[in-house]
Amino acid sequence: MTTPTVAPTTDTTPSTHAQPVDGALPLPVLRNVADLRAQVAAWRAAGQTVALVPTMGALHDGHLALVRRGRELADHVIASVFVNPTQFAPHEDFDRYPRDEAGDAAKLASAGCAALYAPSVRGMYPEGFATAISVGGPSEGLCGTFRPQMFGGVALVVTKLFLQALPDVAVFGEKDYQQLMVIRRFTRDLDIPVRVEGLPTVREADGLALSSRNAYLSVDERARAPELNRALIAAAAALSAGALLEDVLTAARARIAEAGFGTIDYVELRDADTLAPITRVERPARLLAAAWLGKARLIDNVPVLPA
Ligand code: PAF
Repeated sequence: MTTPTVAPTTDTTPSTHAQPVDGALPLPVLRNVADLRAQVAAWRAAGQTVALVPTMGALHDGHLALVRRGRELADHVIASVFVNPTQFAPHEDFDRYPRDEAGDAAKLASAGCAALYAPSVRGMYPEGFATAISVGGPSEGLCGTFRPQMFGGVALVVTKLFLQALPDVAVFGEKDYQQLMVIRRFTRDLDIPVRVEGLPTVREADGLALSSRNAYLSVDERARAPELNRALIAAAAALSAGALLEDVLTAARARIAEAGFGTIDYVELRDADTLAPITRVERPARLLAAAWLGKARLIDNVPVLPA
């Protein structure tokens, strides 16, 4: 029997060290799967556990909270920074998505992250790459309707990151609640041995959910942006008090529009676990919204508890 020749599927760009800041340790920047696996193997050989925090960079305090949670859950945290082209449609903001690797590395080092994994697009998707992942269930509706490319791309890149790093646990923010539910679904469906941990949304003092895309807001838009969260909180309280869903959603949409938002993609009530559409709050639910403010598409969600 002949041994098949396997073409290298990964980049061999050398890994480096980011500069230390504020007395933090230098942060290894791993650029290819071999170096990532060697690092994880060294920790495993010492009996230590690993948390992965997948990100697209332009890191803010919300991401750093994920790193801190990772440190509580495992001995070491690796953060990945990769602006994943497969989750953007051609007309979306892949090219102008904010990128600042040096700044990200410094923030990660200060937060106690042990390594940054920053693969190249070619490393993740080499010539001839031909695999897709399609997730039903929680991918359906909401952002799945308005960004049909997104969850297939997220499932693909997160599956790759999970299989590349094989962490014990991975931490994601509830700000992208539908994404978190999709990741939980395919991780379970594909028997990927990684625990998926969600962390509540980190917000500015005025309620605006932290997001790398907040950088697109003008000063005036930034002042209006928290109304999205306020409208959801008011709607959640009304639903818990037994108000009719249709009336509540109409009022929430009106409030968001009055605040100066343009297109409102959706304001919807869903079951908190399955994301199935619901009309009454009889068990934990989630109210989710996406709306445009200038060039920024803001998303947010809040829990809704039964009375
Ligand atoms: O939430 C994000 O930043 C991205 O969608 C993720 C999970 C890192 C996949 O590219």
